[in-house]
This record gives sequence, C-alpha cells and structure tokens, in this order.
Amino acid sequence: MLVFTNKNKIDTYISSLKREGNKIGFVPTMGALHEGHLSLIKEGLLSNNVMVVSIFVNPTQFDNVADLDKYPRTLEADIKLLETFSENIVIYAPSVDDIYEGDIKSQSFSFDGLEFEMEGRFRKGHFDGVGTIVKRLFEIIKPDNAYFGEKDFQQLAIIKKLVEKHQLPVIVVGCKIHRETSGLAMSSRNVRLKPEYSLSAPFIYKTLQTAQKKFGTKSATVVTKWVEKQFAKHDLLKLEYFIIADVDTLKTVIRKNKNRNYRAFIAVYADDIRLIDNIALN
Ligand code: PAF
Repeated sequence: MLVFTNKNKIDTYISSLKREGNKIGFVPTMGALHEGHLSLIKEGLLSNNVMVVSIFVNPTQFDNVADLDKYPRTLEADIKLLETFSENIVIYAPSVDDIYEGDIKSQSFSFDGLEFEMEGRFRKGHFDGVGTIVKRLFEIIKPDNAYFGEKDFQQLAIIKKLVEKHQLPVIVVGCKIHRETSGLAMSSRNVRLKPEYSLSAPFIYKTLQTAQKKFGTKSATVVTKWVEKQFAKHDLLKLEYFIIADVDTLKTVIRKNKNRNYRAFIAVYADDIRLIDNIALN
C-alpha cells in the first residue's frame, strides 16, 4: 500500500493515475478509522478506480487544545486496516508542516450563514478550520468524487457550499450514518468512552428515534422540551444542544411547514467526550 506524507509526491502520483484515465475518489479522515470510514471507502470504490484516504488530525478545526491533544492517533493500525480492506487505496498522511508550511492558521470563509448554526455556535472557528483543510486537500488530491458521512450533517452541507462558492471541480457525496448495533453513531471518539459511558451512549440515538416519532404530531418546541427533560434526568450524559432545524438552511424551526424537510441534531457530553448525532424527521 502506498503511503504518501508529502503533498508534491502524492500530487505527481495522482496526476499520472489521472492521465491513465483513472477516476479518483477521496475520503478525508482524521484517522482512528472504523467501520463508518470503511463504508465511505466502499461506496467510493463503486464509482472510482482508486480511493485516496487522507489521515490528518487538523489542528485548526479544534477550538479546544485538550480535545486536540486527546484525539486518538492510531496511524499504524489505520494503515493495516486499509491494507486488508482493498488494494485500490492510496493513503496521504501528511505532517502539520506539509499542510500548513509553518503557518497554522485558518482561512475565513462565508458559508451563507450555515456556519453560524449548531456546531458553529458551540465550536468557535471550527468550520473555518474544516473549510481550510478540506479546500487544501481537494487542491492537492484533485479528486473526482469526495465522500462524507451524514453524522457530520452540517459539515457535509458546508463542504457542498464550499465547493459551490469556490467552484471546485469535485462531486461531494453524502453517505448514511453508520451505527453500532446499539444504535450509537460510529465515531473515532467512541474508543475513548469509559465502559459506563459506552453503555449509556446509545441513549442518544434512542432519544432521537422517539423524538422523530413525536415530531409527527407535536410541535418542534414540545419535542425539544421533551428531549431536554430526558437528558436533565440522565445521570451520565450531559446535553449540549438539541435542535430541530430545516435541512436546507439549518435554522431552528419556529413553526412547521409541510413543504419543508426537517432534521433533529444533538450534541452530548459523555464525560469529557463530545458526541454528535442527527436524524431525519420527515
Ligand atoms: O470529519 C472529519 O473527520 C474532519 O472534519 C475532516 C473532514 C477530515 C477534516 O479534517
């Protein structure tokens, strides 16, 4: 398996693959790979000859140094997992310097307001960091198609906006959330959950499922209050936010309109580990 750490070298390699007529798919990751990442690669292998997987814990998207320091880093295991998964994978695992060249800063972006909702409200500067790294990776890899999970639904919407506004020549494909059998959305952070939190965390998706049912007959405010009450009673999990939002604008719903589509979004702390999830409501 080819593992590149230098942007010029992977650029040269990918250019030669493209000249030979290969389609390039791309899955950007921060490593600690799990089944959710593999499902994105699998989807990509259906319509691309080669899948590039980047493994890079991007410092500029963390608003909290402790969170960045504790983010799991398992490069060797990640490479082994990809090696056994498919022969048609190329890895790009750059250093911070290869990407930022000594200037670890985000560019500022406008994503037409999508960046001010939910994660943007609770994680200052997060989407400037995501925009910066994803744009840079798209420029290095120049993929035909790029795959992102719907677990980070707001990130997916923002990346589609980034591509549209900067006219980047890549098709962004959103993929369904991959869940553990318990219902817990797969995340690289799950490996850090202590046993009691691991047992409690599926409560997040169970609550989302009940909220989805209630939304059929109740208002967004009633459903939101109900969810907040469930977490207020919970011993271990701390709710940061539960929001029902319009899928296109990501703005919180005030009054339901039957012509619009809605989704519920949640962020919860399990000890010091922040978990997010979401569910379609109609
Ligand atoms: O979703 C992630 O893992 C990251 O935000 C991404 C897209 C790899 C950018 O660092």
